[in-house]
Amino acid sequence: MSVIKNIQWLGDAETGLLRLLDQTRLPGQEAYLDCRCAQEVADAIQRLSVRGAPAIGIAAAYGCVLGTQQNQFDESAEQLARSRPTAVNLFWALRRMARVVPRTPEALLREARAIHEEDAAMCRKIGEHALALLERHRRGKQGSAEAIHVLTHCNAGALATGGIGTATAGIYLAHQRGLPIRVLADETRPLLQGSRLTAFELAAAGVHVTLICDSMAAQVMRSGRVDLIITGADRIAANGDTANKIGTYALAVLARHHGLPFYVAAPSSTFDLETPDGSRIPIEQRPDQEITHGLGGPTAPRGVEAYNPAFDVTPADLISAIITEKGVIEPVSETRIRQVLGAGEAAG
Ligand code: MRU
Repeated sequence: MSVIKNIQWLGDAETGLLRLLDQTRLPGQEAYLDCRCAQEVADAIQRLSVRGAPAIGIAAAYGCVLGTQQNQFDESAEQLARSRPTAVNLFWALRRMARVVPRTPEALLREARAIHEEDAAMCRKIGEHALALLERHRRGKQGSAEAIHVLTHCNAGALATGGIGTATAGIYLAHQRGLPIRVLADETRPLLQGSRLTAFELAAAGVHVTLICDSMAAQVMRSGRVDLIITGADRIAANGDTANKIGTYALAVLARHHGLPFYVAAPSSTFDLETPDGSRIPIEQRPDQEITHGLGGPTAPRGVEAYNPAFDVTPADLISAIITEKGVIEPVSETRIRQVLGAGEAAG
């Protein structure tokens, strides 16, 4: 398990600050950013110093406390809401914060801490459900000593949440219990969350991880090196269509072609039941420079146009099951989603 603290509130409600692990500096440096106002938190979210749907929601909740220290709850909530459009956990957390009465730093800090702690508990529950699935897949394999091979994309790990991650939660629990498990991490172009963050945190926890380029996934699946795929989610529409890091949809198509199960792991705070299907999910477009520059300089001719959507949408029918803290949604349908989540508890 990663021992790194990605999001910490330091001090009391009236004068305290938010300390974020700056994920843009990993894996080279463990540097921290201190945020003293909501705009600093919004900027940190925008530049991906804190990222991953649940972590964005948690950071925004603390950002509201900072705003209220300066008597600016509404302005702060608006600044935070403008930071990134896709992860619904952000808007879910802001709505929860807006319902707090009285709107004092103390009461808001209590709520932000609750959001943080609940996320850790949800990750743990997701892990227990995912572990049961992993054990089932392992029993289906021939030799019982053989490891189970999981492919994941981006970082839906501890760094992206308040706990042990979503896609990684079952992996960590399996590893703790001695179940042989091996992870293939897609490096995740263009910002390399898979290599910089997932490989980093899994290796730090002693989990066997092998890094691959995104373009290798088809070959790796065809050569029998993958048993199943688990990714996280940024927003899940009412019908189960799922937005996640760009490249997730391609993996789901490949999984279907190769007859492999494709799982999404996400807490109920990532569901948006007010959005009927994936076509209505707002997809963040990020600067061209993330594609045209890297490796310490330009990687494309000057002035070339790039297209850089940060997320794609995987249609529900390509998803074998969605693993939530409340149980496993299988098959993925609106009816089953509502049954498992229960009324009124998702983000929408
Ligand atoms: O752009 P990012 O790094 O915030 O994208 C993160 C993802 O796509 C994650 O898979 C998702 O937020 C789930 S995190 C538990």
